Amino acid sequence: MFRKYIFALLVLLVGLCLNASYSFAQENYSLIPYPKSLEPGKGNFYITKQTIISSALIVKFNSEINQLNELFAASLGGDLKVTKSARPTNVINIVYDPAIKSPGAYRLTITPSKITIISGNNAGVFYAIETIRQLLPVSAEEGKAGSKLTLPALTISDEPGYSWRGMHLDVSRHFFSIAYLRRFIDRMALYKMNKFHLHLTDDQGWRIEIKKYPKLTEEGAWRTFDRNDTACMKRSADNPDFTIDKEHIIQKNGKTLYGGYYTQQQMKDLVKYAAQKHVDIIPEIDMPGHMMAAINSYPFLTCNGENTWGQFFTKPICPCNENTFAFAENVFSEIMDIFPSEYIHIGGDEVERSDWAKSDACKALMQREGIKDIAGLESYFINRMEKFFNSKGRKLIGWDEVLEGGISPTANIMYWRTWVPNAPAKAARNGNHVIMTPGSPLYFDNPADKNSIYNVYHFNPIPAGLTPEQAKLIIGAQANVWSENIPSEKRADYMTMPRMTALAEMLWTNNKEHYTSYEKRLVMQFPRMDALNINYRLPDLDGIIDSKVFVESDRLNVTSPLSSLTIRFTTDGTLPQASSPVLNNLLISHTETVKVAAFTPGGKRGDVYAIRYEQQSLAKPVMANKTDTGLKVDYYKGFFKGTTYIRSGQPDSTYTATSIDVPKSVNAPSFGLKYRGYIDVPETGIYTFYLTCDDGGILKIADRLTVDNDGLHSAIEKTGQVALSKGLQPFALDFIEGGGGFTLKLKYSFNGSEPKDIPQSWFRN
Ligand code: ACM
Repeated sequence: MFRKYIFALLVLLVGLCLNASYSFAQENYSLIPYPKSLEPGKGNFYITKQTIISSALIVKFNSEINQLNELFAASLGGDLKVTKSARPTNVINIVYDPAIKSPGAYRLTITPSKITIISGNNAGVFYAIETIRQLLPVSAEEGKAGSKLTLPALTISDEPGYSWRGMHLDVSRHFFSIAYLRRFIDRMALYKMNKFHLHLTDDQGWRIEIKKYPKLTEEGAWRTFDRNDTACMKRSADNPDFTIDKEHIIQKNGKTLYGGYYTQQQMKDLVKYAAQKHVDIIPEIDMPGHMMAAINSYPFLTCNGENTWGQFFTKPICPCNENTFAFAENVFSEIMDIFPSEYIHIGGDEVERSDWAKSDACKALMQREGIKDIAGLESYFINRMEKFFNSKGRKLIGWDEVLEGGISPTANIMYWRTWVPNAPAKAARNGNHVIMTPGSPLYFDNPADKNSIYNVYHFNPIPAGLTPEQAKLIIGAQANVWSENIPSEKRADYMTMPRMTALAEMLWTNNKEHYTSYEKRLVMQFPRMDALNINYRLPDLDGIIDSKVFVESDRLNVTSPLSSLTIRFTTDGTLPQASSPVLNNLLISHTETVKVAAFTPGGKRGDVYAIRYEQQSLAKPVMANKTDTGLKVDYYKGFFKGTTYIRSGQPDSTYTATSIDVPKSVNAPSFGLKYRGYIDVPETGIYTFYLTCDDGGILKIADRLTVDNDGLHSAIEKTGQVALSKGLQPFALDFIEGGGGFTLKLKYSFNGSEPKDIPQSWFRN
């Protein structure tokens, strides 16, 4: 009896221990990306001035040892001693183990007596150090002397899911200082990102010194303010992050000019800085299109001397003149001297090729080389440049347009055109390596909303329909940041952070099941971002309806997404300030607009939400007998810049839709749709509609404007309400697609339910 009891107790204890080691919460550790495996240990390791760093390979790991010391220097007031031989305690031991081969893979063991970092490569040791960085208290990041450097005991075994974990930054449309690029690289490294793609040239500015063609920067780096600048200035009235960085404005010959460029030496220094953080800088010199800044100074680059906008894009340089190749090779030779990266990006996107067809040089070239069409001329240019890159030991990357006229299988394809969904698979079948950067969700210049982080985290870089062998050719993904509407470093921070952390975890850990824990770990990262002075976007306020409706009166409450944030409001049309009243059960009794925003304790404001309240009576139902299910849809081919511009009169075709989506038969590059009929609502009350559109849409129910999501834009959700009596209510939805891929979704909720699809049986005509 007694022995049995002891045995049962033992079983229970073992069970509890096992349970303790398996059921810990991931969010106990503020780590992004989350490691492949993490086992908690017992106790802590304390880094003190007496701790030593040891490695049998001090020279091999010299750079990483310096990075490690940098983590502690401010707190400890100096570097830790570095020795060749380890000792049993109070040591950080860096061990080379060639068996851990995969680039970036490492093991990290922290016990109360020592830390052991094991890897077969420098990148792996570096990522172990960045893991240690995230495990350290935030005070270490703040560089405060004397902060306690405590690390929890644990064992981590980790390696990256994808080899290309990229961020891009367009430094042409707006220019960014070297100091900012350093900060950008540092935060990429913090989240284990490793490819920094710099879009160095475009129509709006040439940003890298080329010694053989000095006018590229003397002239091409400067411009008068353009329409994007004007738009930014306008927005800066409400949001100072849109203020154009004064640092990049000069006076020259009586003119105010915007611009700037990097000297070759500045870039070489940046490349070295990035290399210490295991970030490769991938330079892009975009050609043959997007070359207006260069052509201004070197007009010989064109086929016919023209340097204007064509139908969609600026006119390109001429692939049919030897002078163009001499220029391109000279430029890329200097680029290769600055950037040691294995990959060099040649752009190749958005080329207005039509002028080439008119050129005698091109006609002759096509005949001589047997080139069938003008897409083939671009291929001729890219393939020839690829041979040049390869002769210098480099690999070429091009945007996915370079596939169109045929491309060699050794080129690397950067996919961006969401509306050409088969391009990645086509590239992989051709044997090309592919980097996924589809506009949705990976263009971080697109405004963020409450779904963006989720969408980035749940993006799957491997397109459907690839064989396992072809899937291996997808080497990773990258977020692109086009800067037309990003005129300041603060705005660039805001657009990229914290979205980049979702990308980092998707590419490294690649396990969608960690999302809930990621959300919690992200909140734990905010104090670190504060310490790093990152102007990150605050979490969205939940449950905001853009356009609200009430019959008698209503109360407005918004729950703060973080306990540290305070929600403040205004009703006089001004933007909420840190001094505005705190929102608490605000009584709404007349039609008005309430602006709300979250504030950090430091006074930083999140997105401002303007909630329009409208007093409505319940719309009476239509007394008609509409028994046919579905809605009538008129399909108009053509480009409309807003739903009000959709032509009236005879549509190109008409069909019946039983749900709000776009059938395959609607396939014009640009079009407008008009859905008309009735919606049979089963109860009386206030209905909420959620309309997600790319591009624009307008929903009217009972002839009342319910959701306004009009205009040319990427996929965003807008919400609105309408007061309806039970029964048939007139339904009208107008939708436009401007080109480049579309989204159309409509959901509803009633009485605070979760948003749901509208049952097909509700639609009548
Ligand atoms: C691009 O967005 N033009 C690559």
